[in-house]
Amino acid sequence: MKLENKRYLVTGAGSGLGKALVRRLKWVRGTKIVAVTSGIDVSKPENIECMLDFAIKRTGGLDCVIACAGFGYYESFGDKGYEHIRRIFETNVLSPIYTLERFLAKTEGNVAFVMVSSMLGKFGLAGMTLYSATKHALAGFADAYKLEKPKRLHYMTAYPITIKTNFWNKLPKDIPIPKPMQTADTAAKAILRGLRKNKKSIYTAPFSKVFTDLTLPYQLIGSLKFQKWLVGASIARPTYADDTIRH
Ligand SMILES: NC(=O)c1ccc[n+]([C@@H]2O[C@H](COP(=O)([O-])OP(=O)(O)OC[C@H]3O[C@@H](n4cnc5c(N)ncnc54)[C@H](OP(=O)(O)O)[C@@H]3O)[C@@H](O)[C@H]2O)c1
Repeated sequence: MKLENKRYLVTGAGSGLGKALVRRLKWVRGTKIVAVTSGIDVSKPENIECMLDFAIKRTGGLDCVIACAGFGYYESFGDKGYEHIRRIFETNVLSPIYTLERFLAKTEGNVAFVMVSSMLGKFGLAGMTLYSATKHALAGFADAYKLEKPKRLHYMTAYPITIKTNFWNKLPKDIPIPKPMQTADTAAKAILRGLRKNKKSIYTAPFSKVFTDLTLPYQLIGSLKFQKWLVGASIARPTYADDTIRH
C-alpha cells in the first residue's frame, strides 16, 4: 500500500521497534499517527477498545494498525505458574489478535494490519520457550487467516531477527543474546518497505527466510548456551533448598 497520507496506530511505540516505526512514519508525507506508549496496557480488551476509538476519533479514521507491543522471558520453563503463562500470551497473542478483530469491526474500506512476530515464531530457542510459543501462535494465525481474510484487508506478519532494544534489558543481565543483531531502525525500515510492497510476510534481515530451513545447528548451540547459563544462574542465585541449608 502507499504509505503516504494514511492514518496509523502503532502499539509498543514507547521504545525500540515501535518507536523507530513511528519515527520513520513521521517522515512520510501526510501521515497521521497515534503512538501508543506504555501508559496504556494493551493486554486488556477494554483498553484495546478505547485505544482504537481514540485513534479513529483523533485522526478521522484508521488505515493501518501495527501491533508491536510485546515482551519476552528468558528462563527455564516449568515452575512459574498460570499467571506467568497468561501474562505473556495476553500481551503477545490475545492482544494483537483481538486488536485486529476490533479494528476490522470499526473500519470500512481498504485497511492494513501488521503483526510483529519474530524469527522465534519460525523456530524455537531454549530459554525462550514461552516467548517462542507466543510468536509461533502469530505465525500460525497468519498461515490460516490468509485463506479467509477479507479482500479489503492487507495483512502482513513481520519476522525480525534480534533487535538491539530494551526488550533485552528487561531480561536477566547475563543471558546469551541470540546473534546476529540489527538496529530498531533497520528493522522498522524493512517492515515499512514490506508494507509498501504489499508483502504478506517480511523478514527484516537478508537471508533470514532461507535460515528458517537450517535452524537445527543454531538451536543446538542455543541450547548449549542455555544449559551453561542455567548452571551459572543457579550458582549466582541460590535455590530455595540452598537457602534452607544456610539459615
Ligand atoms: N528485540 C528483539 O530482539 C525482537 C526480535 C523479534 C521480535 N521482537 C518483537 O518486536 C516487538 C517490539 O519489541 P522491542 O524489541 O522494540 O522491545 P521494547 O523496546 O521493549 O518495546 C516493546 C514495547 O512494548 C510495550 N509493551 C509491552 N507490553 C505491553 C502491554 N501489555 N501494554 C502496552 N505496551 C506494552 C513496552 O512498554 P514497556 O517498556 O512500558 O513495558 C515497550 O514500549 C515485540 O513484539 C517483540 O516481541 C523483538
